[in-house]
Amino acid sequence: MSKEIPEKFRVGLCGLGTVGGGTLNLLADNSHEIQRRVGCPIEIVHVATRSPKPDLVEGIARSGSDPFAVANDPEVDVLVETMGGFDPAFEVVRQALANGKHVVTANKALIAEHGNELFARAKENNVSLAFESSVAGGIPIIKALREGLAANRIDWLAGIINGTGNFILSEMSAKGRQFEDVLAEAQALGYAEADPTFDVEGIDAAHKLTIMGAIAFGIPLQFERTYTEGISFITPDDIDYADELGYVIKHLGIARMTDKGVEMRVHPTLVSRSRLLANVNGVGNAVLVHGDAVGSTLYNGPGAGAMATASAVVADVIDLARQAMAGSTAPVYPPLGYLSSDTDKAVLDIEEIEAEYYLRIPAVDKVGVMARISNILQEHDISIEAVIQKEASSESVSIVILTHNAIEKELNQALSAIAALNDVVGEITRIRVEPFHANKD
Ligand code: HSE
Repeated sequence: MSKEIPEKFRVGLCGLGTVGGGTLNLLADNSHEIQRRVGCPIEIVHVATRSPKPDLVEGIARSGSDPFAVANDPEVDVLVETMGGFDPAFEVVRQALANGKHVVTANKALIAEHGNELFARAKENNVSLAFESSVAGGIPIIKALREGLAANRIDWLAGIINGTGNFILSEMSAKGRQFEDVLAEAQALGYAEADPTFDVEGIDAAHKLTIMGAIAFGIPLQFERTYTEGISFITPDDIDYADELGYVIKHLGIARMTDKGVEMRVHPTLVSRSRLLANVNGVGNAVLVHGDAVGSTLYNGPGAGAMATASAVVADVIDLARQAMAGSTAPVYPPLGYLSSDTDKAVLDIEEIEAEYYLRIPAVDKVGVMARISNILQEHDISIEAVIQKEASSESVSIVILTHNAIEKELNQALSAIAALNDVVGEITRIRVEPFHANKD
């Protein structure tokens, strides 16, 4: 299919918060370079924003507070959605697609939870729904998966995909700062979600992992099947003990194709200090992807913030503008063959996975405690790799154990039995360890 080559590519922008403001500024700052790359100017012709921002919208043809006016504007070629949330974003995007407009969105919750339906609508209307900026901020990980690695079978990927969480863990680890204090700074810097529990409880990372896993393995988006654990239970002691054992605690999203099924899980994870991922700090994100042909590749960069995210939003707009300049109307997002593979592999329940574990068990300092704990582990076929014992108070100690590979269901049963021992005097902490072993490739 072909159509007339446009003189300019017209953007309608919904939302002028951190990401929307960054998008507007980036299109203005780099307009010359972008025009050179596309072959025509990209112009914002309509903006909808909840709170008036006269300085930002000066010179833009139409502005107001109604995003549906943008979705219905015949002068708009692509609607850029940077409002976040579901309401009204979901209906606005549906409306724009139904009106035959391409959509670019930074909204990971929208794609992860409603993407299957929205992609179907985009396909029906022969338009694109692009979402690069929804995952890992400025890192072009969606393009890497769908273009650069397109020849590979993706075996697994693992990433730090929430900037706020990584900022908190890095600051706690490097400077001994308190969780709440660092979270407040991340909010002030514009990294955190409107509701920061999305960051610290792993929901934001689970949205992003759901999207990456679907693209990597060609399975439908299944946010409800992605296992999610946050970082708020991590203590400075865990960070210190992990360090003593040679590890750093990172909040990882891991997606892996196994013989049993697909693992999709977000949780705090011990990563060996020698790994590059362990050294990605602050608001940085990084995704390690293992393809059968290429091996491991690592994508690293800023995971949040106005200009980093705008970089990915504008890249999607540029893709669509280039396509228009090439005279094509064929949708480029989602690419054919993605989100629709013929795999019958289901997403596994967390109890079905196998992992190595860090355990911190608060116990009375008495002869025989360690023997009782190791007997229970042994009964569940779980062997111990390392043990350290630390004085926690005058009455109790922390027994810290690293296990070898174990089935999570067995570990859960062992932990219930250990928790029932009279010697155990508090909640047991369990953190999964990710060795990125060749046998897991
Ligand atoms: N709150 C998100 C983060 C923003 O911290 O990663 C970028 O998606």
